[in-house]
Amino acid sequence: MSIAAALEPVARLIGDWEGEGLGTYPTIRDFRYREHLSFVDVGRPFLHYEQRTWSPEGRPMHVETGYLRIAAPVAEFVLALPTGQAELGEGTVHDEETLVLELTGRILNSATAKPVTATQRTYIIEGDLLRTQFDMEAVGQPMGRHLESVLHRRLG
Ligand code: HEM
Repeated sequence: MSIAAALEPVARLIGDWEGEGLGTYPTIRDFRYREHLSFVDVGRPFLHYEQRTWSPEGRPMHVETGYLRIAAPVAEFVLALPTGQAELGEGTVHDEETLVLELTGRILNSATAKPVTATQRTYIIEGDLLRTQFDMEAVGQPMGRHLESVLHRRLG
């Protein structure tokens, strides 16, 4: 099955990726995590996204899921987070030698969620490496790094 024409600029994202990340924020202790994410082609002009993370010992950590909608150069990332947020990331995709997806997020917080007021996500693909960066403005802090990870394409 060939992918929808709209997805051609992000074709390199499709598949399974896994690797390790580092978490930080001014209010918490740094932590390391393992990450698995996938961008799945479902035959329509968007990708289904799913991410799961674990501590280095294998304890489940954050998970999230959503849809990446592409009308290049516009990219829209619609996400549901179990920490009580709905996130709408809007930005651009650049597909040259390196694929770069940059998204600025608007957030809806549930009544009991720790308050997150804005996010910034970056996904960079170089060959079979995917680098992710996640910054947030949360719990009264200015925009700052919470996560970065380096993932490898899982083959087969
Ligand atoms: C790889 C994914 C992620 C991992 C492994 C992770 C892990 C953590 C950990 C270990 C903490 C400190 C303990 C805690 O408060 O539970 C934390 C705090 C926090 N995280 Fe994340 N997180 C992830 C993604 C996110 C995302 C996507 C958001 C927001 C949309 C987010 C928002 C927060 C907030 C608001 C705090 C609280 C900071 C505070 O209380 O001072 N996290 N995260």
